[in-house]
Amino acid sequence: MTFPADFLWGAATAAYQVEGAWDKDGKGPSIWDNFVRIPGKTFDGTTGDVAADHYNRYKEDVALMAEMGLKSYRFSISWPRVMPKGRGGVNEKGIEFYSNLIDELIKHGIVPFVTLYHWDLPQALQDEVDGWESRECVDAFEEYARLCFERFGDRVNHWITFNEPIVFQMFGYVTEAHPPAKSNPHLLYQTSHYVNLAHARAVKAYREIGGTGEIGITNVINPAYPYTDSVADREATWWSESYSFHWYYDPILKGEYPAEYLAAIEEAYGKLDITEDDISLLKQAKSDFIGINYYQPSRVAANNSETSHSNGRESNTGAAGTASFCGRYRTVLDTEQFEYTKWLWEICPDALRDSMHRIKDRYGDIPIYITENGLGDEDPIVNGEVLDEARIDYIRRHLLACKQAISEGINLKGYYAWSWIDLLSWLNGYKKQYGFVYVDRENLQRKKKQSYHWYEEVIATNGESL
Ligand code: BG6
Repeated sequence: MTFPADFLWGAATAAYQVEGAWDKDGKGPSIWDNFVRIPGKTFDGTTGDVAADHYNRYKEDVALMAEMGLKSYRFSISWPRVMPKGRGGVNEKGIEFYSNLIDELIKHGIVPFVTLYHWDLPQALQDEVDGWESRECVDAFEEYARLCFERFGDRVNHWITFNEPIVFQMFGYVTEAHPPAKSNPHLLYQTSHYVNLAHARAVKAYREIGGTGEIGITNVINPAYPYTDSVADREATWWSESYSFHWYYDPILKGEYPAEYLAAIEEAYGKLDITEDDISLLKQAKSDFIGINYYQPSRVAANNSETSHSNGRESNTGAAGTASFCGRYRTVLDTEQFEYTKWLWEICPDALRDSMHRIKDRYGDIPIYITENGLGDEDPIVNGEVLDEARIDYIRRHLLACKQAISEGINLKGYYAWSWIDLLSWLNGYKKQYGFVYVDRENLQRKKKQSYHWYEEVIATNGESL
Protein backbone atom coordinates (compact mmCIF):
# COMPACT_ATOMS: atom_id res chain seq x y z
CA MET A 1 0.00 0.00 0.00
CA THR A 2 2.00 2.95 -1.21
CA PHE A 3 1.84 5.86 -3.65
CA PRO A 4 3.79 5.47 -6.90
CA ALA A 5 7.20 7.16 -6.87
CA ASP A 6 6.18 9.60 -9.64
CA PHE A 7 2.84 10.52 -8.02
CA LEU A 8 2.03 14.18 -8.67
CA TRP A 9 1.38 15.84 -5.32
CA GLY A 10 -0.33 19.02 -6.33
CA ALA A 11 -2.63 21.89 -5.54
CA ALA A 12 -4.92 23.85 -7.82
CA THR A 13 -6.41 27.27 -8.53
CA ALA A 14 -8.31 28.96 -11.37
CA ALA A 15 -7.57 32.25 -13.11
CA TYR A 16 -10.61 34.26 -12.09
CA GLN A 17 -10.35 33.09 -8.50
CA VAL A 18 -6.72 34.14 -7.91
CA GLU A 19 -5.32 36.47 -10.54
CA GLY A 20 -7.08 39.80 -10.06
CA ALA A 21 -5.82 42.42 -12.58
CA TRP A 22 -9.16 41.97 -14.28
CA ASP A 23 -8.68 44.86 -16.70
CA LYS A 24 -4.88 45.16 -16.80
CA ASP A 25 -2.45 44.96 -19.69
CA GLY A 26 -5.02 44.53 -22.43
CA LYS A 27 -7.18 41.80 -20.90
CA GLY A 28 -10.74 41.72 -22.24
CA PRO A 29 -13.75 41.33 -19.94
CA SER A 30 -15.08 37.86 -19.20
CA ILE A 31 -18.67 36.93 -18.46
CA TRP A 32 -17.69 36.75 -14.78
CA ASP A 33 -16.27 40.29 -14.75
CA ASN A 34 -19.73 41.50 -15.72
CA PHE A 35 -21.84 39.02 -13.76
CA VAL A 36 -20.30 39.90 -10.37
CA ARG A 37 -21.34 43.50 -10.95
CA ILE A 38 -25.04 42.60 -11.03
CA PRO A 39 -26.39 43.39 -7.55
CA GLY A 40 -27.24 40.32 -5.46
CA LYS A 41 -25.36 37.79 -7.57
CA THR A 42 -22.41 37.14 -5.24
CA PHE A 43 -21.99 37.16 -1.47
CA ASP A 44 -21.57 40.78 -0.34
CA GLY A 45 -21.14 41.77 -3.99
CA THR A 46 -17.61 40.32 -3.97
CA THR A 47 -15.67 40.44 -7.23
CA GLY A 48 -12.46 38.92 -8.56
CA ASP A 49 -11.10 42.35 -9.51
CA VAL A 50 -8.16 41.90 -7.16
CA ALA A 51 -8.69 38.29 -5.93
CA ALA A 52 -5.40 37.03 -4.46
CA ASP A 53 -3.42 39.43 -6.69
CA HIS A 54 -1.59 36.42 -8.10
CA TYR A 55 -1.06 38.31 -11.39
CA ASN A 56 1.34 40.61 -9.56
CA ARG A 57 2.62 38.19 -6.92
CA TYR A 58 3.09 34.98 -8.89
CA LYS A 59 6.84 34.83 -8.17
CA GLU A 60 6.24 34.98 -4.44
CA ASP A 61 3.52 32.34 -4.80
CA VAL A 62 5.73 29.98 -6.78
CA ALA A 63 8.51 30.45 -4.22
CA LEU A 64 6.07 29.31 -1.51
CA MET A 65 5.12 26.27 -3.61
CA ALA A 66 8.78 25.40 -4.08
CA GLU A 67 9.49 25.75 -0.38
CA MET A 68 6.68 23.33 0.38
CA GLY A 69 8.04 20.85 -2.15
CA LEU A 70 4.87 20.91 -4.28
CA LYS A 71 5.37 18.63 -7.29
CA SER A 72 2.74 20.11 -9.56
CA TYR A 73 0.53 23.20 -9.82
CA ARG A 74 -2.80 23.15 -11.63
CA PHE A 75 -3.92 26.58 -12.81
CA SER A 76 -6.13 27.90 -15.59
CA ILE A 77 -5.49 30.34 -18.40
CA SER A 78 -7.91 33.22 -18.69
CA TRP A 79 -9.11 33.10 -22.29
CA PRO A 80 -9.89 36.86 -22.46
CA ARG A 81 -6.45 37.67 -21.05
CA VAL A 82 -4.75 36.07 -24.05
CA MET A 83 -7.53 36.69 -26.61
CA PRO A 84 -9.51 39.72 -25.40
CA LYS A 85 -12.39 39.10 -27.81
CA GLY A 86 -12.20 35.33 -27.71
CA ARG A 87 -10.98 35.01 -31.31
CA GLY A 88 -8.84 36.77 -33.89
CA GLY A 89 -6.37 38.91 -31.96
CA VAL A 90 -3.76 37.96 -29.41
CA ASN A 91 -2.84 39.98 -26.32
CA GLU A 92 0.93 39.50 -26.08
CA LYS A 93 1.03 40.87 -22.53
CA GLY A 94 -1.34 38.09 -21.47
CA ILE A 95 0.79 35.47 -23.19
CA GLU A 96 3.82 36.90 -21.44
CA PHE A 97 2.21 36.51 -18.01
CA TYR A 98 1.51 32.80 -18.48
CA SER A 99 4.83 32.22 -20.16
CA ASN A 100 6.61 33.76 -17.16
CA LEU A 101 4.50 31.77 -14.72
CA ILE A 102 5.29 28.51 -16.54
CA ASP A 103 9.01 29.35 -16.64
CA GLU A 104 8.99 30.17 -12.94
CA LEU A 105 7.32 26.84 -12.12
CA ILE A 106 9.74 24.85 -14.24
CA LYS A 107 12.70 26.70 -12.76
CA HIS A 108 11.58 25.39 -9.37
CA GLY A 109 10.93 21.85 -10.61
CA ILE A 110 7.12 22.18 -10.41
CA VAL A 111 5.09 20.53 -13.17
CA PRO A 112 2.52 22.90 -14.74
CA PHE A 113 -0.92 21.31 -15.24
CA VAL A 114 -2.96 23.72 -17.32
CA THR A 115 -6.74 24.10 -17.60
CA LEU A 116 -7.88 25.98 -20.69
CA TYR A 117 -11.38 26.83 -19.51
CA HIS A 118 -12.36 27.42 -15.92
CA TRP A 119 -15.58 29.32 -16.68
CA ASP A 120 -14.34 32.82 -17.64
CA LEU A 121 -15.66 32.99 -21.20
CA PRO A 122 -14.76 36.20 -23.07
CA GLN A 123 -17.79 38.49 -22.82
CA ALA A 124 -17.41 39.30 -26.52
CA LEU A 125 -18.29 35.69 -27.40
CA GLN A 126 -21.38 35.80 -25.19
CA ASP A 127 -22.44 39.04 -26.88
CA GLU A 128 -21.58 38.13 -30.45
CA VAL A 129 -22.44 34.43 -30.76
CA ASP A 130 -24.41 33.63 -27.56
CA GLY A 131 -21.44 31.80 -26.07
CA TRP A 132 -21.82 28.03 -25.72
CA GLU A 133 -25.26 28.15 -27.32
CA SER A 134 -23.58 28.29 -30.69
CA ARG A 135 -21.20 26.24 -32.81
CA GLU A 136 -19.22 29.41 -33.48
CA CYS A 137 -18.02 29.26 -29.90
CA VAL A 138 -16.65 25.79 -30.63
CA ASP A 139 -14.61 27.25 -33.51
CA ALA A 140 -13.37 30.04 -31.26
CA PHE A 141 -12.33 27.58 -28.57
CA GLU A 142 -10.28 25.59 -31.05
CA GLU A 143 -8.51 28.78 -32.16
CA TYR A 144 -7.77 29.65 -28.52
CA ALA A 145 -6.61 26.12 -27.67
CA ARG A 146 -4.25 26.08 -30.67
CA LEU A 147 -2.79 29.40 -29.54
CA CYS A 148 -2.07 27.96 -26.08
CA PHE A 149 -0.57 24.75 -27.48
CA GLU A 150 1.64 26.75 -29.84
CA ARG A 151 2.86 29.26 -27.27
CA PHE A 152 3.15 27.06 -24.19
CA GLY A 153 3.25 23.50 -25.55
CA ASP A 154 7.05 23.44 -25.58
CA ARG A 155 6.94 23.55 -21.76
CA VAL A 156 3.48 22.29 -20.77
CA ASN A 157 2.84 18.56 -21.07
CA HIS A 158 -0.45 18.26 -19.18
CA TRP A 159 -3.62 19.86 -20.53
CA ILE A 160 -7.17 19.95 -19.25
CA THR A 161 -9.62 21.36 -21.77
CA PHE A 162 -12.59 22.17 -19.48
CA ASN A 163 -13.26 22.33 -15.79
CA GLU A 164 -16.56 20.82 -14.65
CA PRO A 165 -18.94 21.37 -17.56
CA ILE A 166 -21.84 20.21 -15.36
CA VAL A 167 -21.36 23.15 -13.02
CA PHE A 168 -21.20 26.00 -15.50
CA GLN A 169 -24.02 24.46 -17.53
CA MET A 170 -26.36 23.63 -14.62
CA PHE A 171 -25.78 26.98 -12.92
CA GLY A 172 -25.66 28.90 -16.19
CA TYR A 173 -28.77 27.37 -17.79
CA VAL A 174 -30.97 26.06 -14.99
CA THR A 175 -30.46 27.64 -11.59
CA GLU A 176 -29.29 31.04 -12.97
CA ALA A 177 -26.57 31.19 -10.32
CA HIS A 178 -23.76 31.62 -12.87
CA PRO A 179 -23.62 33.59 -16.12
CA PRO A 180 -25.37 33.73 -18.53
CA ALA A 181 -28.05 33.02 -15.88
CA LYS A 182 -30.74 31.59 -18.13
CA SER A 183 -33.36 29.03 -17.21
CA ASN A 184 -33.79 26.68 -20.14
CA PRO A 185 -33.16 22.92 -19.87
CA HIS A 186 -32.92 22.52 -23.64
CA LEU A 187 -29.99 24.92 -23.64
CA LEU A 188 -28.44 23.04 -20.73
CA TYR A 189 -28.16 19.91 -22.88
CA GLN A 190 -27.37 21.69 -26.13
CA THR A 191 -24.49 23.69 -24.66
CA SER A 192 -23.30 20.51 -23.05
CA HIS A 193 -22.96 18.90 -26.47
CA TYR A 194 -21.19 21.93 -27.97
CA VAL A 195 -18.72 21.97 -25.08
CA ASN A 196 -18.00 18.27 -25.72
CA LEU A 197 -17.33 19.14 -29.36
CA ALA A 198 -15.01 21.96 -28.29
CA HIS A 199 -13.14 19.49 -26.10
CA ALA A 200 -12.87 17.02 -28.97
CA ARG A 201 -11.67 19.69 -31.42
CA ALA A 202 -8.97 20.75 -28.95
CA VAL A 203 -7.83 17.14 -28.47
CA LYS A 204 -7.65 16.69 -32.24
CA ALA A 205 -5.80 19.98 -32.68
CA TYR A 206 -3.28 18.97 -30.01
CA ARG A 207 -2.50 15.76 -31.87
CA GLU A 208 -2.35 17.55 -35.23
CA ILE A 209 0.26 20.00 -34.06
CA GLY A 210 2.30 17.10 -32.70
CA GLY A 211 1.69 17.60 -28.99
CA THR A 212 3.58 14.92 -27.10
CA GLY A 213 2.10 15.44 -23.66
CA GLU A 214 -1.29 14.36 -22.35
CA ILE A 215 -4.69 15.96 -22.72
CA GLY A 216 -8.00 15.26 -20.99
CA ILE A 217 -10.91 16.94 -19.27
CA THR A 218 -11.99 17.54 -15.68
CA ASN A 219 -15.48 16.67 -14.52
CA VAL A 220 -16.92 16.83 -11.08
CA ILE A 221 -18.10 13.52 -9.66
CA ASN A 222 -20.85 13.15 -7.05
CA PRO A 223 -21.52 9.41 -6.91
CA ALA A 224 -25.20 8.84 -6.23
CA TYR A 225 -26.54 6.53 -3.52
CA PRO A 226 -30.26 5.91 -2.96
CA TYR A 227 -31.32 7.58 0.27
CA THR A 228 -33.55 4.64 1.14
CA ASP A 229 -33.91 1.24 -0.41
CA SER A 230 -37.32 2.10 -1.85
CA VAL A 231 -37.96 1.49 -5.54
CA ALA A 232 -38.70 5.19 -5.99
CA ASP A 233 -35.35 6.26 -4.50
CA ARG A 234 -33.49 3.67 -6.54
CA GLU A 235 -35.16 4.91 -9.71
CA ALA A 236 -34.31 8.48 -8.75
CA THR A 237 -30.70 7.39 -8.32
CA TRP A 238 -30.70 6.10 -11.89
CA TRP A 239 -31.72 9.59 -13.06
CA SER A 240 -29.04 11.18 -10.95
CA GLU A 241 -26.28 8.84 -12.20
CA SER A 242 -27.50 9.18 -15.79
CA TYR A 243 -27.35 12.93 -15.67
CA SER A 244 -24.46 13.86 -13.43
CA PHE A 245 -22.18 10.94 -14.34
CA HIS A 246 -23.00 9.19 -17.61
CA TRP A 247 -24.24 12.22 -19.54
CA TYR A 248 -20.94 14.02 -18.91
CA TYR A 249 -18.44 11.15 -18.99
CA ASP A 250 -19.79 8.88 -21.76
CA PRO A 251 -19.29 11.31 -24.66
CA ILE A 252 -15.72 11.96 -23.51
CA LEU A 253 -14.68 8.40 -22.67
CA LYS A 254 -16.94 6.36 -24.99
CA GLY A 255 -17.72 8.85 -27.75
CA GLU A 256 -21.48 8.45 -27.31
CA TYR A 257 -24.38 9.66 -25.19
CA PRO A 258 -26.29 7.34 -22.84
CA ALA A 259 -29.12 6.35 -25.21
CA GLU A 260 -31.99 5.93 -22.78
CA TYR A 261 -31.28 9.21 -21.02
CA LEU A 262 -30.83 11.08 -24.31
CA ALA A 263 -34.20 9.79 -25.52
CA ALA A 264 -35.85 10.90 -22.27
CA ILE A 265 -34.48 14.43 -22.36
CA GLU A 266 -35.25 14.88 -26.05
CA GLU A 267 -38.82 13.85 -25.35
CA ALA A 268 -39.03 16.31 -22.47
CA TYR A 269 -37.12 19.28 -23.89
CA GLY A 270 -37.00 18.81 -27.65
CA LYS A 271 -34.53 17.44 -30.18
CA LEU A 272 -30.86 18.33 -29.78
CA ASP A 273 -28.52 19.35 -32.56
CA ILE A 274 -26.18 16.33 -32.57
CA THR A 275 -25.00 15.13 -35.98
CA GLU A 276 -23.34 11.90 -37.11
CA ASP A 277 -20.17 13.85 -37.84
CA ASP A 278 -20.22 15.13 -34.27
CA ILE A 279 -20.39 11.61 -32.91
CA SER A 280 -17.57 10.45 -35.14
CA LEU A 281 -15.47 13.40 -33.90
CA LEU A 282 -16.20 12.49 -30.27
CA LYS A 283 -15.15 8.91 -30.96
CA GLN A 284 -11.86 9.96 -32.55
CA ALA A 285 -10.87 12.38 -29.78
CA LYS A 286 -9.53 9.99 -27.19
CA SER A 287 -8.58 11.56 -23.88
CA ASP A 288 -5.32 10.47 -22.28
CA PHE A 289 -6.73 10.73 -18.76
CA ILE A 290 -9.77 11.79 -16.83
CA GLY A 291 -9.56 14.50 -14.20
CA ILE A 292 -12.08 14.30 -11.39
CA ASN A 293 -13.05 16.94 -8.88
CA TYR A 294 -14.55 15.29 -5.85
CA TYR A 295 -16.18 17.01 -2.91
CA GLN A 296 -19.16 14.91 -1.90
CA PRO A 297 -21.58 12.15 -2.86
CA SER A 298 -25.30 12.58 -3.55
CA ARG A 299 -27.92 10.94 -1.31
CA VAL A 300 -30.75 10.68 -3.75
CA ALA A 301 -34.50 10.50 -3.24
CA ALA A 302 -37.47 10.67 -5.56
CA ASN A 303 -38.65 14.19 -6.25
CA ASN A 304 -42.35 14.16 -5.68
CA SER A 305 -43.16 17.48 -7.21
CA GLU A 306 -42.08 19.47 -10.21
CA THR A 307 -41.22 22.33 -7.88
CA SER A 308 -37.70 23.27 -7.01
CA HIS A 309 -36.22 22.51 -3.64
CA SER A 310 -33.25 23.40 -1.54
CA ASN A 311 -30.30 21.07 -1.31
CA GLY A 312 -27.49 23.03 0.28
CA ARG A 313 -24.96 22.86 -2.57
CA GLU A 314 -24.49 26.52 -3.38
CA SER A 315 -25.27 29.80 -1.84
CA ASN A 316 -24.67 33.47 -2.47
CA THR A 317 -25.94 34.58 0.91
CA GLY A 318 -22.99 33.45 3.00
CA ALA A 319 -25.11 30.66 4.52
CA ALA A 320 -25.62 27.11 3.33
CA GLY A 321 -28.69 25.66 1.74
CA THR A 322 -30.32 28.42 -0.21
CA ALA A 323 -29.97 27.44 -3.85
CA SER A 324 -32.33 25.13 -5.67
CA PHE A 325 -32.43 22.45 -8.34
CA CYS A 326 -35.44 20.82 -9.88
CA GLY A 327 -36.03 17.62 -11.75
CA ARG A 328 -36.73 13.91 -11.38
CA TYR A 329 -34.68 13.50 -8.23
CA ARG A 330 -33.51 15.48 -5.29
CA THR A 331 -30.49 15.25 -3.04
CA VAL A 332 -31.17 14.82 0.63
CA LEU A 333 -29.45 16.45 3.59
CA ASP A 334 -29.47 14.29 6.68
CA THR A 335 -27.36 15.76 9.41
CA GLU A 336 -28.32 12.95 11.80
CA GLN A 337 -26.86 10.28 9.61
CA PHE A 338 -24.03 11.95 7.67
CA GLU A 339 -21.11 14.26 8.37
CA TYR A 340 -21.08 17.71 6.76
CA THR A 341 -18.91 20.79 6.30
CA LYS A 342 -20.09 24.21 7.44
CA TRP A 343 -21.51 24.71 3.96
CA LEU A 344 -23.39 21.43 4.24
CA TRP A 345 -21.28 19.52 1.76
CA GLU A 346 -21.18 15.90 2.92
CA ILE A 347 -17.80 14.57 4.03
CA CYS A 348 -17.42 11.01 2.74
CA PRO A 349 -13.90 9.91 1.71
CA ASP A 350 -15.04 6.40 0.80
CA ALA A 351 -17.26 7.82 -1.95
CA LEU A 352 -14.09 9.17 -3.57
CA ARG A 353 -12.66 5.66 -3.66
CA ASP A 354 -15.98 4.36 -4.97
CA SER A 355 -16.03 7.10 -7.67
CA MET A 356 -12.76 5.84 -9.09
CA HIS A 357 -14.08 2.28 -9.17
CA ARG A 358 -17.24 3.47 -10.95
CA ILE A 359 -15.05 5.09 -13.59
CA LYS A 360 -12.91 1.99 -14.01
CA ASP A 361 -15.93 -0.31 -14.19
CA ARG A 362 -17.59 1.75 -16.90
CA TYR A 363 -14.64 3.02 -18.94
CA GLY A 364 -11.74 0.68 -18.25
CA ASP A 365 -8.31 1.44 -16.93
CA ILE A 366 -7.99 5.10 -17.90
CA PRO A 367 -5.41 7.09 -15.89
CA ILE A 368 -7.10 9.28 -13.27
CA TYR A 369 -6.05 12.51 -11.61
CA ILE A 370 -7.94 13.96 -8.67
CA THR A 371 -7.84 17.52 -9.97
CA GLU A 372 -9.69 19.05 -6.99
CA ASN A 373 -10.60 17.97 -3.47
CA GLY A 374 -10.62 20.06 -0.35
CA LEU A 375 -12.47 21.70 2.50
CA GLY A 376 -14.22 25.07 2.33
CA ASP A 377 -14.18 26.51 5.83
CA GLU A 378 -13.74 29.62 7.95
CA ASP A 379 -10.33 28.90 9.41
CA PRO A 380 -9.64 29.69 13.07
CA ILE A 381 -6.82 32.13 13.76
CA VAL A 382 -5.22 31.65 17.17
CA ASN A 383 -2.42 34.01 18.27
CA GLY A 384 -1.87 34.98 14.67
CA GLU A 385 -1.54 31.38 13.43
CA VAL A 386 -4.06 29.84 11.03
CA LEU A 387 -4.92 26.53 12.65
CA ASP A 388 -6.89 24.71 9.96
CA GLU A 389 -6.94 21.29 11.58
CA ALA A 390 -10.29 20.51 10.01
CA ARG A 391 -8.69 20.85 6.55
CA ILE A 392 -5.81 18.57 7.52
CA ASP A 393 -8.27 15.97 8.72
CA TYR A 394 -10.38 16.27 5.57
CA ILE A 395 -7.46 15.95 3.15
CA ARG A 396 -5.75 13.21 5.17
CA ARG A 397 -8.87 11.03 5.09
CA HIS A 398 -9.36 11.57 1.36
CA LEU A 399 -5.71 10.78 0.65
CA LEU A 400 -6.04 7.55 2.61
CA ALA A 401 -9.02 6.70 0.40
CA CYS A 402 -6.79 7.37 -2.63
CA LYS A 403 -4.09 5.14 -1.22
CA GLN A 404 -6.57 2.35 -0.74
CA ALA A 405 -7.91 2.82 -4.28
CA ILE A 406 -4.37 2.52 -5.65
CA SER A 407 -3.90 -0.72 -3.72
CA GLU A 408 -7.14 -1.98 -5.31
CA GLY A 409 -5.73 -1.40 -8.79
CA ILE A 410 -6.91 2.12 -9.61
CA ASN A 411 -4.53 3.94 -11.95
CA LEU A 412 -4.33 7.17 -9.95
CA LYS A 413 -1.50 9.45 -11.10
CA GLY A 414 -1.87 12.54 -8.96
CA TYR A 415 -3.85 14.51 -6.40
CA TYR A 416 -4.49 18.26 -6.48
CA ALA A 417 -5.81 19.78 -3.31
CA TRP A 418 -8.27 22.59 -3.80
CA SER A 419 -6.83 25.04 -3.31
CA TRP A 420 -3.26 26.21 -3.25
CA ILE A 421 -4.11 29.59 -1.72
CA ASP A 422 -7.22 31.23 -0.28
CA LEU A 423 -9.16 32.48 -3.26
CA LEU A 424 -12.49 33.77 -4.45
CA SER A 425 -15.23 31.23 -3.99
CA TRP A 426 -17.48 32.02 -6.97
CA LEU A 427 -20.62 32.76 -4.98
CA ASN A 428 -19.32 32.87 -1.41
CA GLY A 429 -16.68 35.54 -1.84
CA TYR A 430 -13.62 35.31 0.42
CA LYS A 431 -15.60 34.02 3.36
CA LYS A 432 -15.12 30.38 2.38
CA GLN A 433 -11.43 29.43 2.54
CA TYR A 434 -9.77 26.44 0.89
CA GLY A 435 -6.05 27.19 0.74
CA PHE A 436 -2.83 25.99 2.31
CA VAL A 437 -1.82 29.64 2.21
CA TYR A 438 -3.83 32.36 3.93
CA VAL A 439 -4.28 35.76 2.29
CA ASP A 440 -4.82 38.79 4.50
CA ARG A 441 -7.66 40.64 2.75
CA GLU A 442 -6.39 44.02 4.04
CA ASN A 443 -2.90 43.92 2.57
CA LEU A 444 -2.91 40.67 0.54
CA GLN A 445 0.06 39.33 2.46
CA ARG A 446 0.51 35.58 2.44
CA LYS A 447 0.85 33.37 5.50
CA LYS A 448 1.45 29.62 5.72
CA LYS A 449 -1.33 27.74 7.47
CA GLN A 450 -0.90 24.68 9.66
CA SER A 451 -2.02 22.59 6.67
CA TYR A 452 0.86 24.00 4.60
CA HIS A 453 3.41 22.38 6.93
CA TRP A 454 1.38 19.19 7.13
CA TYR A 455 1.14 18.78 3.33
CA GLU A 456 4.87 19.54 3.06
CA GLU A 457 5.56 16.45 5.15
CA VAL A 458 3.06 14.31 3.23
CA ILE A 459 4.89 15.20 0.02
CA ALA A 460 8.35 14.71 1.50
CA THR A 461 7.43 11.20 2.65
CA ASN A 462 5.46 10.37 -0.53
CA GLY A 463 2.38 9.84 1.59
CA GLU A 464 3.96 7.62 4.23
CA SER A 465 3.31 10.20 6.97
CA LEU A 466 -0.44 9.88 6.44
C1 BG6 B 1 -15.36 23.48 -7.98
C2 BG6 B 1 -14.72 24.52 -8.85
O1 BG6 B 1 -16.64 23.30 -8.45
O2 BG6 B 1 -15.55 23.76 -6.65
C3 BG6 B 1 -13.89 25.56 -8.09
O3 BG6 B 1 -13.97 23.96 -9.89
C4 BG6 B 1 -14.62 25.95 -6.84
O4 BG6 B 1 -13.62 26.63 -8.95
C5 BG6 B 1 -14.77 24.73 -5.98
O5 BG6 B 1 -14.03 27.01 -6.13
C6 BG6 B 1 -15.43 25.01 -4.65
O6 BG6 B 1 -16.66 25.61 -4.82
P1 BG6 B 1 -17.12 26.82 -3.93
O7 BG6 B 1 -18.46 27.19 -4.40
O8 BG6 B 1 -17.10 26.35 -2.53
O9 BG6 B 1 -16.09 27.88 -4.18
